[in-house]
Amino acid sequence: MEEKEKERKGYDVKDIGLAESGFKKTLWADRFMPVLALIRERFNREKPLKGVKISCCLHVTSETANLMRTLRAGGAELSLCASNPLSTQDEVAAALVKHFEVKTFAVKGEDNKRYYSHIESVLKENPNITIDDGADLVSTLHTRYKPLIPRILASMEETTTGMVRLRAMERDGSLKVPVIAVNDANTKHFFDNRYGTGQSTVDGIIRATNILFAGKTVVCCGYGWCGRGFATRARGMGATVIVTEVDPLRALEAVMDGFLVMPLEEASPLGDIFCTLTGCKSVIRSEHFSRMKDGAIVCNSGHFNVEIDIPALERMSSKIERGVRPYIDRYELRDGRSIFLLGEGRLINLAAAEGHPPSVMDMSFAIQALCAEYAAKNAGKLKACVYSVPKEIDNEVASLKLKSMGVKIDTLNDEQKRYLSSWEEGT
Ligand code: ADE
Repeated sequence: MEEKEKERKGYDVKDIGLAESGFKKTLWADRFMPVLALIRERFNREKPLKGVKISCCLHVTSETANLMRTLRAGGAELSLCASNPLSTQDEVAAALVKHFEVKTFAVKGEDNKRYYSHIESVLKENPNITIDDGADLVSTLHTRYKPLIPRILASMEETTTGMVRLRAMERDGSLKVPVIAVNDANTKHFFDNRYGTGQSTVDGIIRATNILFAGKTVVCCGYGWCGRGFATRARGMGATVIVTEVDPLRALEAVMDGFLVMPLEEASPLGDIFCTLTGCKSVIRSEHFSRMKDGAIVCNSGHFNVEIDIPALERMSSKIERGVRPYIDRYELRDGRSIFLLGEGRLINLAAAEGHPPSVMDMSFAIQALCAEYAAKNAGKLKACVYSVPKEIDNEVASLKLKSMGVKIDTLNDEQKRYLSSWEEGT
C-alpha cells in the first residue's frame, strides 16, 4: 500500500475481507484467556487508560487481539504493528481494524522496508505508552523519533531479547524512557518462555515438516527458559535430546535434568533436527553445517533471525531450492548433502505455527495490561531506567490464574507467619 493511502486509511493489512475469520479466531482464543477477560471487565467499568495513546509492536496473533480488546476496554487509543515480518496472522490483523478499533499495520511476509515503515506508522500516532516485543519500537523511538520521547510514560518489553537490548541501552546511558521488564515477571517467563515456547516450537517444526520426533536426535542450542521448555517437550515426544550451552550453570542443570550436553561441533554430526533458542547471534555456523548429516533440519525459535549464520550457509551452497514445502528451503552443499532451513531462520513457532497457546499468553498479556494501568497511574513518576514488574501485579496474576483453573491453595496461619518472620526459634 502506498504511504499516502496507508495514512489516509489508518491501517495496512493484507485483506480487510479476512476480518470475519480473524474475529472468530480471536473469540476462540479468548475462551482460554480468563485472567485477561476479568481484567477487561474491570477496565470496562473503571476506564483506567482513558485518553492514553498506546502504540504496540507485537506478534499480531489472536492472543494479541485479546490484549488489544482489553486495553481498548480501558479507554486507550491503540495502534499496532508486527514485531516480526513473518509472524502476522493476516485474518487477525483485518479483524483488529474492522471489529476492534485498532490502527493495525502488519502483513505476513512484509519485507524489512515495509516492516520498519509500519513501526514508523505506529510511532506517528504519538504514543504515551509503548509495548514492544524485541525492542525494535523503542530503538526506532530513540533514533529517528527522539522528539516523542518526553511524551512516553513507560514502555513495556515482552521478551528476553528485548530486555538484553534495553539493559545495554540503560548501561551506556542511552535509555531515555522508563521501561517495565514484563518478560522478567515470574508469571511471564516461568510459563510463556518454558511451556509456551516448548510446545509451540515443537508445533512449528511439525507443521512445517510433518516429521516424527520419536527416534530422532534433536539438538537444542541454549538452555534458558525457552531452551529447557523445548528440550523437555522434544524428549516427551520420544527424541534423544542433546543440549549445547555456553553457561556452565545452565549446562550443569541440563546434565542433571538428564540431557546429553556437548559442544555444538560434537553434536553437529549426530543431530537430525537443530533448533536455536539462545538470543545470541551466529550460534550455528559454517564449521557446524560442514559436519551435519545429509538431510539435517535446522531452525530457530529465538527472537531474531541471526542465530543461524544463513549467509555462511548460502556461501557454502551450490544450489538453493526455495519452498520444497511451505517454510522449507533446501540448501545443497558442494559435496551434494542437503540441509533444510525452516522459516528462513525466523522464529519457527510463529512463522509456521501460531505462537504460544492462549492459556500462557493469558498471563503474559494480563501483566502487560496491568503494567499499562500502573504506568498511567504513575504518570510522570517513573525515571528512564529498567523497572521490574511490581510484585503485587505478578502475584495477582498468579492468584487469578489459579482461581480460573479452580485450584485452591493453603494460607499461612498466624503462628507460621510469626515463625517465618523471627529468628529465635531453632532446633
Ligand atoms: N509470542 C509467542 N507466542 C505469541 C502469541 N501467540 N501471541 C503473541 N505473542 C506471542
